[in-house]
Amino acid sequence: MATSDEATDPGSRTVPSSHPDRPPRILVFDSGIGGLSVTREIRAARPDAELVYVADDAGFPYGDWEEKALTARIVDLAGRLVADHHPDVFVIACSTAATLVLPHLRAALAVPFVGTVPAIKPAATTTRSKMISVLATPGTVKRDYTRALIDTYASHIEVTLVGSTRLARIAEDHLSGRPVDDAAILREIRPCFRRHDGRRTDRIVLGCTHYPFLVDHFRRLAPWEVEWIDPAPAIARRVVQLLGPARAGTPTGRGLAIFTSGRPPTTALARVLDGFGLVVADERSAV
Ligand code: DGL
Repeated sequence: MATSDEATDPGSRTVPSSHPDRPPRILVFDSGIGGLSVTREIRAARPDAELVYVADDAGFPYGDWEEKALTARIVDLAGRLVADHHPDVFVIACSTAATLVLPHLRAALAVPFVGTVPAIKPAATTTRSKMISVLATPGTVKRDYTRALIDTYASHIEVTLVGSTRLARIAEDHLSGRPVDDAAILREIRPCFRRHDGRRTDRIVLGCTHYPFLVDHFRRLAPWEVEWIDPAPAIARRVVQLLGPARAGTPTGRGLAIFTSGRPPTTALARVLDGFGLVVADERSAV
């Protein structure tokens, strides 16, 4: 489990609610269902908050987008979402996006942004073997932001970067109730497991918010036991730092899920969304 706020981008400062008459509204954004791993922690930390979950599934997967085009797409979309939903906090629950667009979003929009970035610091400070791996999308592993995290927090240890082209899609299939293939999962995680000089990898950073939904498969298929580090709890802590704690006795807040494609989720995914208290927006309110 991540133990440091370094798993979130710490750029935003505490803000008073702009709408004190209603519970805080938190917008959680991802390219698909990955941000639900973050939503789960936010819901537990602030059950009273209103949630707006946005999956830009029309743009999925973000992992292999060209950086300039992806930045333009997300800044434009975020502008429309802020105008339509007036969130008190906007969570970029996608490392592929956050490692690229946070400075652009902060320059363009007057909303506090919290972003998930690979939890390299907690992995680097807790590893005993001094060998960690970062499992993420091809976009995240090549970002300057990721390189800077390694230079700052992990220059003294061996870091293996593994860019997976398939795992985000496999996680989408899994939550949508489609079968997933163990051999395909193992192929994607295998390069994370390294041996060197009698030592071996002991921490693997889940550098994409889709991956926590596959962690049971990862544990079962792993060649040896490691700690899988999920940044979601640190992100929820950062959101609570910004908004303050929930008031006792307030009822569970409403939740809305928006899919930019306007396509309805599968029955299995609809059940998952329902479990998070998210009602799927009809096509007309899709962006
Ligand atoms: N969930 C996203 C992340 O955290 C990426 C999935 C994608 O490739 O779109 O990086």
